[in-house]
Amino acid sequence: MDKKKVSGFSKLNKTDKIKWVAHNFLYSNPIDVVKDFAGYWHDNIEEQKIFDGFSENTISNFHMPFGVAPNFLIDGKDYAIPMVTEESSVVAAAANAAKFWYDKGGFTTTINNSVKIGQVHFTYPGSKEKLQKFFPELKYKLIDGVENITANMEKRGGGILDIELLDFTAKEKDLYQLKCSFETVDSMGANFINSCLEEFGNILVDGIQLNTAFSLEEKDVKVIMCILSNLTPDCTVTAKVSCPVKELGFFQNGLMSPQQFADKFTQAVRIAEVDPYRATTHNKGIMNGIDAVIIATGNDFRAVEACAHAYAAKDGEYKSLSHAEVVDGIFTFSITVPLALGTVGGLTGLHPLAKKSMEIMGEPTAHQLMSIVACVGLAQNFGAVRALTTSGIQAGHMKMHLNNILSQFHATEMEIEKAVAYFKDKVISVSLVRAFVTEMRAV
Ligand code: MEV
Repeated sequence: MDKKKVSGFSKLNKTDKIKWVAHNFLYSNPIDVVKDFAGYWHDNIEEQKIFDGFSENTISNFHMPFGVAPNFLIDGKDYAIPMVTEESSVVAAAANAAKFWYDKGGFTTTINNSVKIGQVHFTYPGSKEKLQKFFPELKYKLIDGVENITANMEKRGGGILDIELLDFTAKEKDLYQLKCSFETVDSMGANFINSCLEEFGNILVDGIQLNTAFSLEEKDVKVIMCILSNLTPDCTVTAKVSCPVKELGFFQNGLMSPQQFADKFTQAVRIAEVDPYRATTHNKGIMNGIDAVIIATGNDFRAVEACAHAYAAKDGEYKSLSHAEVVDGIFTFSITVPLALGTVGGLTGLHPLAKKSMEIMGEPTAHQLMSIVACVGLAQNFGAVRALTTSGIQAGHMKMHLNNILSQFHATEMEIEKAVAYFKDKVISVSLVRAFVTEMRAV
């Protein structure tokens, strides 16, 4: 069999990397393949170097649409929000929901807390009581021992908030943990936290091994790993929209009253509170908006996704992140979501378009960005559940999808115009659009 294992791939230049891929996996003319991939390189070599620097073995750039959702009124301030997503109708739905709420007071937000967590997992084969007795002294040593790392963060108002000793020995032999909480102000803080944790690991081992109170056996303390946790249940923001039910207006061409809408909408959200299958789709809709802003600002969308879903299951069952209710004739729709974000450092300060995103939003602090992102998630959720409980989701989706299908068939401006008019009140599918385009071209 023709083996493809390669050594030194990372050392090849970009063109040779593409040729290697072409030769081994595409079986096409390497010159043409180089041309295809190079077609997406940045014209400016210096700019391209920035993109190449973000990752390894890069051979090209993967373009995604960068859109803007206007009409967001958040805590009394106007925003146009940058969103990077490939899913048609996401930006339109967010903008639409934002406009709907604009004249009803917009969105209000509360930052509940912004604590980040890091863990040192270690094994210690000795007396629990001895370890617990030593802990206050160890805690002092830990905080004191990382002063060189924390000094700058403290100047910015952050640093170590607390360190706890947790006992996991009932679940795993000899296993303990230093659970450390941090405030990282405007940075996401991963590097800061992980640097502190690794130093904590060294201080912990030295602290026990140099302490005569511990026996030789007890000195066999082992650090298993030091890493931040992406579960940040104390780094959450609540975003809310609210208005008297009658101000919601009529839906379905006047056929659905504001009260009927409010009843159906709140029930739809309750379904996502009692059924994990619906909750997953409901929360996916929220993340459509959240991820798009996270990506546009160069934040870590995998971390945000992992945390959001773990948080949604915090009560032992996976549930909706949002909540809707009508109390005394007032409709309120809210979301509480964990968002560990940064506005300084990382990709945010390096990616030219992430920098532009921050500029468009008026250089928000991390807390402000948490508020903005939560509002987009809520707007996205409102748009989706409003569509689901009124016209259904397909009408809007397929309208946007029509453009994608047409571009797949390389439709001209005139063909697009005719197709949009034709499919205005018809079901849209790839095969129906293909048939329409074929017939149009046959004439
Ligand atoms: C599609 O990307 C998102 C929705 O399925 C969300 C929802 O069902 O609430 C429309």
